[in-house]
Amino acid sequence: MPSSKTFGFLAALAAVAFFGSPSVSAMAEDGHGQPKPPRQQWSFAGAFGSYDKGQLRRGFKVYKEVCSSCHSIGLLAFRNLSEKGGPELSEADAKALAESYKIKDGPNDAGDYYERPGRLSDRFPPPFPNEQAARAALNGAYPPDMSVLAKARGYSRGFPLFLADALPGFAYQEHGVDYITALLDGYADTPKGVTLPPGQYYNLYMPGRRTGMPPPLSDGAVTYDDGSPQTVAQYAKDVSAFLMWAAEPHLEERKQVGLRVVGFLIVLSALVYFTKRKIWAKVEH
Ligand code: HEC
Repeated sequence: MPSSKTFGFLAALAAVAFFGSPSVSAMAEDGHGQPKPPRQQWSFAGAFGSYDKGQLRRGFKVYKEVCSSCHSIGLLAFRNLSEKGGPELSEADAKALAESYKIKDGPNDAGDYYERPGRLSDRFPPPFPNEQAARAALNGAYPPDMSVLAKARGYSRGFPLFLADALPGFAYQEHGVDYITALLDGYADTPKGVTLPPGQYYNLYMPGRRTGMPPPLSDGAVTYDDGSPQTVAQYAKDVSAFLMWAAEPHLEERKQVGLRVVGFLIVLSALVYFTKRKIWAKVEH
């Protein structure tokens, strides 16, 4: 029987594990009733989730035509776009895309740096040569690299759901994409009595409700050729899904391995149980 002291210690430890978990405390909440990003339905959520290829392709188009003028995505290579589990462009398309970019290379035999057309193995070139150039062009704000953004942002779902989020295996893993979707569609008129510094925009979902990012999307700005609605809400969802894939390209594989492990454990438990019955069958008890 554990003493009450031990019990108290264990309870405190459990409390720390719950409330002190980084996934809970790192989430953005300004404490002034900031609205929570609405929960979206994602094809890649849950144990059986997988990416919707069409959505990833549309999302990539939005990234390429809109976001890439400010945000780099430095970890993504052109060849990734044709890999399994992603937008799955044909290799010829990915190659043509790569060749449409100019990549800095060098030095050559004469010691000079030069530009050449991209190859499949190249990564996406950044829109600005360095952080200072980006800030100078954007009123001092810095657009973060998008390679892992969808996994790097989150928010607290509040009581009692944050308890579930603290448990491994039960945690909701789509905070980041919900947040980005809400943010892109979350611009609103600045309310009376609030004055924003120049170059700042009112946005319901950005922590502090202001952002240095001008509203990037507008209805009809990107043409879809698969008949999906060309609205800000749809663009926001598609590009968020694309960013989720960029941040976790092996999600499908990870989920499949997880399922196989669980299946294996169930079979193993059954075997262990029957072995135990057999071994103990002859023992009187
Ligand atoms: C005109 C340049 C520009 C374009 C185009 C742009 N952004 Fe941004 N973005 C910014 C800047 C600047 C920031 C940093 C804002 C700040 O720190 O206040 C930012 C920040 C963000 C953030 C981070 C918010 C956070 O929590 O830190 C996300 C997410 C984001 N942008 C998504 C997008 C997406 C998706 C697109 C394309 C649909 C896009 N942006 C297009 C300039 C841009």
